[in-house]
Amino acid sequence: YKLPEIKNEPVKSYAPGSPEREALKQKLSELNRGGLEIPMIIDGKEIRTGNLSDIRPPHDHQRLLGHYHQGDKTHVQMAIEAALKAKPAWEAMHWESRAAIFLKAAELIAGPYRYDFNAVTMIGQSKNAFQSEIDAVCELVDFYRFNVRNMYELYGMQPNSAPGTWNRTVWRPLEGFVFALTPFNFTSIAGNLGGAPALMGNTVVWKPSKTAVYSAHLIMQVLKEAGLPDGVINLVYTGGKEAADVIFNHREFAGLHFTGSTAVFNGMWKTIAGNMEKYRSYPRIVGETGGKDYVFADATANPKEVATALTRGAFEYQGQKCSAASRAYIPTTIWEEVRSYMEADLQSIKMGVPEDFTNFINAVIDEESFDKLAGKIAEAQQSPDAEVIMGGKCDKSKGYFIEPTVILAKKPDYVTMREELFGPILTVYLYEPEKLDETLDILDTTTDYALTGAIFSSNRSNIEKLTTRLTHTAGNFYINDKPTGAVVDQQPFGGGRASGTNDKAGSLFNLLRWVSPQTIKETF
Ligand code: ALA
Repeated sequence: YKLPEIKNEPVKSYAPGSPEREALKQKLSELNRGGLEIPMIIDGKEIRTGNLSDIRPPHDHQRLLGHYHQGDKTHVQMAIEAALKAKPAWEAMHWESRAAIFLKAAELIAGPYRYDFNAVTMIGQSKNAFQSEIDAVCELVDFYRFNVRNMYELYGMQPNSAPGTWNRTVWRPLEGFVFALTPFNFTSIAGNLGGAPALMGNTVVWKPSKTAVYSAHLIMQVLKEAGLPDGVINLVYTGGKEAADVIFNHREFAGLHFTGSTAVFNGMWKTIAGNMEKYRSYPRIVGETGGKDYVFADATANPKEVATALTRGAFEYQGQKCSAASRAYIPTTIWEEVRSYMEADLQSIKMGVPEDFTNFINAVIDEESFDKLAGKIAEAQQSPDAEVIMGGKCDKSKGYFIEPTVILAKKPDYVTMREELFGPILTVYLYEPEKLDETLDILDTTTDYALTGAIFSSNRSNIEKLTTRLTHTAGNFYINDKPTGAVVDQQPFGGGRASGTNDKAGSLFNLLRWVSPQTIKETF
């Protein structure tokens, strides 16, 4: 077999006047009209419970887009049964057929549904057009395509055989069903957490974030159109506890594929551990959790590059990326220059609804997030240990808008230097260049997270020193670049410590978690 060529999907720029911008505007007006009524999808059937929850754009929360149908424990049970029923045929299907379904889904997303994916992510998750393109189109397409290539490579990994025998590895899927619990912030992650195990022959119960139902529904529609059989992925909208109560008590629970907070992941891991005797097999637990991602500059760093990395790394998608820069360590000697570049950058960007393409910053996801972020800013405004030096305005009257905010921390362990906030707040700590080693120790020990980090230096021996010293502080480490924007197949993504199991989404390592290899020895 030889696969079709697998490449990263090119990113469209949506420049003013471009055909893609016009097409997207058209799609936005079509999909922004309201009247949505989104069912769950179990065993390929649309399930309407009549227990309706509102769908509203985070940047315009007075406007009702429609409703989705909420389920309860009985629907989780139905989804498990559907997944188990679909499993034998799906597992037995030729791997090329499974691959073809995901390759076709990628073609549909990159082609006829491109603007639908972009538009629903803009409307439902308040992401600007360019960020939606990178996420909901290119990254999702890349996940589906590169998963296929990685599966192909994995299946080709076979043992040696002595004369007169033939040893082989059968890359079996897990026995049972996989639970995919997905976040709001990346449509691509939501599509991949169920998609990757499914490609490997598993069947899935999928519970997306309640703030990303619109894009989850579209993913399911496209997978169905691509030929995904009924029951392979079952989409339920329930509370987390309801889902957990049923799933983690089920004998056939085989794996968890999660992206979300460390606290939720830890809670689930403990529950699973407590139920271990109930399961047929040891479940695979794969999670990408929180981050407190950093930018560290030395005195030789280029101030303009540092400033750009900070504004883009901290504020793109309102800082709601697990990879977002949220703490920075800058030497006093370059700070004034960095600061003035940042101020200029921030003055040039606008905040508002994503449907207006000139807005770089949109709303944060919901009121809970808004209140938490606004509270941290207010606390910093009062604290003797901090100073809010840029932004700081918060307004939820129309949408959940938080200005890009920069806090200067007078103490390196000030709360916003330690805790994950998941919003457009960057905290900067200034250090004297001669205290470089001490500052690296502080960086390393201030939080338990280790997802992404970036260093800036123009001195080769410092680059070497920082890279070695900080090796365990980030699963994705950037030298002279912002800590966000990992591209599938180029920077496999995931972190260690409290940031997750580091199984690198979109890579062969991730696929390995969804198989249970069998070794066969045949003697002739
Ligand atoms: N993979 C995403 C990034 O690197 C989270 O920004």
